[in-house]
Amino acid sequence: MRVLVTGHQGYLGTVMVPVLRARGHEVTGLDIGWFADCVLGDAPQDPPGLAVDLREVRAEHLAGFDAVIHLAALSNDPLGALAPRITHDINHHASVRLARLAKDAGVRRFLYASTCSVYGAAGDGLVAESAPLRPLTPYAQSKVRVEDDLVALADGDFSPVFLRNATAFGFSPRLRADIVLNNLVGHAVLDGVVKVLSDGTPWRPLVHAEDIARAFARCLDAPVEAIHCRAYNIGAEVNNLTVADIAHAVAEVVPGAEVLITGESGADPRSYRVDFSAARRELGFEALWSVADGAAELATEYCARGLTAADFTGRFVRLARLRALGEQGEIDAELRRVAPATAAPAATSTETAATTSAELSDSVTPEPKAQAPATSTTPSRADSASLSSGAGGIESARAGGDPIGVGG
Ligand SMILES: NC(=O)c1ccc[n+]([C@@H]2O[C@H](COP(=O)([O-])OP(=O)(O)OC[C@H]3O[C@@H](n4cnc5c(N)ncnc54)[C@H](O)[C@@H]3O)[C@@H](O)[C@H]2O)c1
Repeated sequence: MRVLVTGHQGYLGTVMVPVLRARGHEVTGLDIGWFADCVLGDAPQDPPGLAVDLREVRAEHLAGFDAVIHLAALSNDPLGALAPRITHDINHHASVRLARLAKDAGVRRFLYASTCSVYGAAGDGLVAESAPLRPLTPYAQSKVRVEDDLVALADGDFSPVFLRNATAFGFSPRLRADIVLNNLVGHAVLDGVVKVLSDGTPWRPLVHAEDIARAFARCLDAPVEAIHCRAYNIGAEVNNLTVADIAHAVAEVVPGAEVLITGESGADPRSYRVDFSAARRELGFEALWSVADGAAELATEYCARGLTAADFTGRFVRLARLRALGEQGEIDAELRRVAPATAAPAATSTETAATTSAELSDSVTPEPKAQAPATSTTPSRADSASLSSGAGGIESARAGGDPIGVGG
């Protein structure tokens, strides 16, 4: 199949592309390249790609593809909280616009990277896909809005599928340190302490990046009528763990590391255990990685590839990296590329990231349907100011422990 993967130079995209190529798919990427050179170890082999801002995608970018895998997004809660308006512009408006262009271009499958965070604070019972969606953050709200709007676009010629991924873990050359297991293993390796800032009781569903890639591959293989407009939780029940369990799993694989549960922060109200049986039943998908195996893999890779504390708290933290790009003048207050996209590492397209107001107006879609979030869904102003000075968010991302355990 000819597949366009947006966000192919991100944490998940970098793991997914080889998985798809190994299955014979012809992959093209599309990415603004924010994290293209944030690599631990050897540089990955990127596929041919378009260095394009999602907000500026045009019809011709979608021509000729059988499927779109849409990963590009502001990918965590700290970013969403600091820049809610931009989060809605990119994650919601530009995503729906991408889907419309894909549909118009005759793309049959649109596989969307949603998140288990759409369930919010769901308590101790297992939540299946039919559970009420209670997104607690601008990031999670943006995911629900896209799902709703894509359902409205679905018809006999256009089949969106929603993969609600658990929070990812595992090694990717384009590492993220701001997701819970990757973060706790990093602190264990670098500091000898696995520090949990809450009381450790919230539930988190986890899944390895490679398993997410395999789930998307399954959705390319499945008969399109079988997956038309379906939502699938992607993960494994065995990897529904409390934050304290996750911390102890880390301490098991890093000799000498100690678990410290401080209970000082209860800021993140998310807690949910997820039922993954629909993907097993309907896609034949089984997650292969346990949290213990993933922790061991991460510890090995961090040591072998010489992870440093500066990188771990700097360029591998999504918020810190965007802040640095802003300070270096490479992105503007709207997170648009200031330098020509040809300057972006690994860009293989002649596209530029130039912005025009006409193109911008394209990216605005009607106001989304009302949800029932616990926080306001009204996009706020002046996101960029708080992002460029965003010490609070970066500090909380640096602090380790579960409050940053977001990622999806
Ligand atoms: N990592 C997780 O734990 C997790 C869990 C559930 C869902 N997800 C979802 O999966 C997707 C990928 O996550 P990830 O961890 O790889 O995130 P990431 O931040 O590592 O990668 C996102 C990629 O999208 C690109 N991008 C962002 N905005 C763009 C824009 N306006 N135009 C073009 N490219 C843009 C970035 O440059 C980056 O390469 C996201 O949609 C995320 O919400 C991730």
